[in-house]
Amino acid sequence: MKPERIDLLIHNIGQLVTMKGSPGPRRGAEMSDTGTVSGGAVAIADGVIVAAGPEADVRQAVAGLRTERTLDAEGRLVTPGLVEPHTHLVHGGSREHEYHLKLQGVPYLDILAQGGGILSTVRATRAASEDQLYEKARKSLDLLMLFGATTVEAKSGYGLTLEDELKQLRVAKRLNETHPVELVSTFMGAHAVPEEYKGRSGEYVRLVIEEMLPEVKRQGLAEYCDVFCEHGVFSVEESRQILFAAKKLGFGLKLHADEIEPLGGARLAAELGCVSAEHLLAATDEGLRAMRDAGVIAVCLPATSFNLRAPHARARDMIDMGLAVALSTDYNPGSSPTESLQLVMTLACLNLGMTPEEVITAMTVNAACAIGRGDRIGSLEPGKQADLVLYNADNPAYLPYHFGINHVDTVIKRGEIVVSGGQIVQ
Ligand code: NIG
Ligand code: FE
Repeated sequence: MKPERIDLLIHNIGQLVTMKGSPGPRRGAEMSDTGTVSGGAVAIADGVIVAAGPEADVRQAVAGLRTERTLDAEGRLVTPGLVEPHTHLVHGGSREHEYHLKLQGVPYLDILAQGGGILSTVRATRAASEDQLYEKARKSLDLLMLFGATTVEAKSGYGLTLEDELKQLRVAKRLNETHPVELVSTFMGAHAVPEEYKGRSGEYVRLVIEEMLPEVKRQGLAEYCDVFCEHGVFSVEESRQILFAAKKLGFGLKLHADEIEPLGGARLAAELGCVSAEHLLAATDEGLRAMRDAGVIAVCLPATSFNLRAPHARARDMIDMGLAVALSTDYNPGSSPTESLQLVMTLACLNLGMTPEEVITAMTVNAACAIGRGDRIGSLEPGKQADLVLYNADNPAYLPYHFGINHVDTVIKRGEIVVSGGQIVQ
């Protein structure tokens, strides 16, 4: 339907990365096709894209319509708003007190086994009020947005009691209602076995299945369920039980799979029809093939590998095998304390062997599909939500190339300018 007026016309765009194409994830060689046009424009009405493409075509498409506001992109690069499909956004405290252990080479799972790591953040999260959690998460969400994210997935998993998990999820809901960035909520009560259940993981799994999942569902506080399937955390069988119960209740499924040990998480994600599997550093070819055949998106987290000084996920092999890859910060206080998707761009190129084009695909349309939003966000096409980023750069390769700084100039969410000149618009 043609609108009566254009609310915002962005013109004089240098390179416009549209990502136009199928609303589904782009696999293998398709990840190189970013649908980029030179000399572009985007017309927006009611928070939705009316036209996007070469400027002459866009002007023709909106000819005769009143334009309320124009924005001169001054030759900048424009991409769809970045989609962050995997964070542990809401939590109390931080973990720099464990940094010396990490620097001495104490493994991540050993710190956890000693009651630190995730369990240290669980203590801080339980002790924090809902308002404190909200304030801390809001600051991180501001940073994610300043670095270009317009939609962010957020997991619980630092409460590990019914009440504390609900507290985290309520904070995510409130952020979604009050912050320009859109949040997608995931219940991750099976993130660690809490100290009070040490040695009784089976009982904790029962609590997750019988009490937490139904109550989270009843209150409508999460769309997805995720589990940390790892040696010493939740076994493949426990993960299967939890995700199976979640599926029956109607949750979408995700899995932290084969991060440190090749337990078979990738295969499990394929078997259960997870929308995505995360980490995958240790995934076998067989596991990856099963994911490909089942259409599970591989969410790679190169900042986590970097920060844990761990091996890297084989994103190059995954793409060459025909998988769809998405990228994320994994923002959390332990394995990846960073809100910068632009740092992730650099690490994905240098350490995962991805090209800048593949990286953009992984952070837009594929990330959108990893959170079930491929029909609404992730590309700049008529009818899609008007979420865009304008950079102080004129081509995609410049973003990972000039690293460690923020290239974002302007962020537009649902047609509203929310970041301008690199600052949040109040
Ligand atoms: O995705 N691997 C498990 N969970 C998080 C880390 C959480 C933490 O260390 O607090 C991750 O890396
Ligand atoms: Fe994670």
